[in-house]
Amino acid sequence: MKHTLLANGHRIAFRHDGPADGLPLVLLHGFCEDSSVWDDFLPRLNGLQIVRVDLPGFGGSALPLSPGMDVYADAVCAVLNDLSIERCVLVGHSMGGYTALEFAEKFPERLTGLGLFHSHPFEDSPERREGRRRGIETVQSGKRDLYVAQLFPNLFAEKFAKANPGLINKLIDKGKRQSAEGIVAALEGMLARKNHSETLRNSAFPVLFLLGSEDSIVQVEQGLQAVVLPDIADIHVLPGTGHMGMFESPEKCAEIVRGFWEFCARK
Ligand code: MLT
Repeated sequence: MKHTLLANGHRIAFRHDGPADGLPLVLLHGFCEDSSVWDDFLPRLNGLQIVRVDLPGFGGSALPLSPGMDVYADAVCAVLNDLSIERCVLVGHSMGGYTALEFAEKFPERLTGLGLFHSHPFEDSPERREGRRRGIETVQSGKRDLYVAQLFPNLFAEKFAKANPGLINKLIDKGKRQSAEGIVAALEGMLARKNHSETLRNSAFPVLFLLGSEDSIVQVEQGLQAVVLPDIADIHVLPGTGHMGMFESPEKCAEIVRGFWEFCARK
């Protein structure tokens, strides 16, 4: 069910599904997506209370006041406050994982578990920064649609992408409905984000790492460098999977997320 709230005069859209009790699982979407990216995945998490947030500038949420993962983290916190949720398991896909790490630093007491779903705690490499700057230029020059059309096919393992053009076109169409300003703010926010190794080192909660063996955005080697940081880590590398495990390996991903949630709920 879709809801909106106003935080500091700004609209934040979110979805709240499943039972109203039990440890909430909060799912955050990645870049150029919104909370609907989890739609097909959700039935696999049947029985859990699930909150999905449209990060500022995406879906039904207003543009962020300024770019930054901290602004996204504040929006997630505003949704939890609105729902009177004190603690949750927070799982973020890629840029959603960068947001979840920022949330973990700002509001550690609100977390029972943190999930990095094709994500990692490190800052951008110089090459990645350059790519983001080029992306900002492209989108600001009015080529948002081209940018989005080039983005999505690269998120999947090659074999899966070839076999599923319909799904990729659907994601591209949805991506084209995100505003150019929201996309630019996300690129600027990711460009400026900091290294969250310390956040993981200091974590008093279990951390899930879900990686894809064919992910070209968050490579396995990079993800595995982070798994030694927290005290308690749940580590999975999905074979033949790119950056979009919720579509590429949905059954396995759901089993992993549910297993992590159960572990956190028992603690
Ligand atoms: C995402 O899927 O959120 C982005 O690809 C993350 C990134 O560009 O680092």
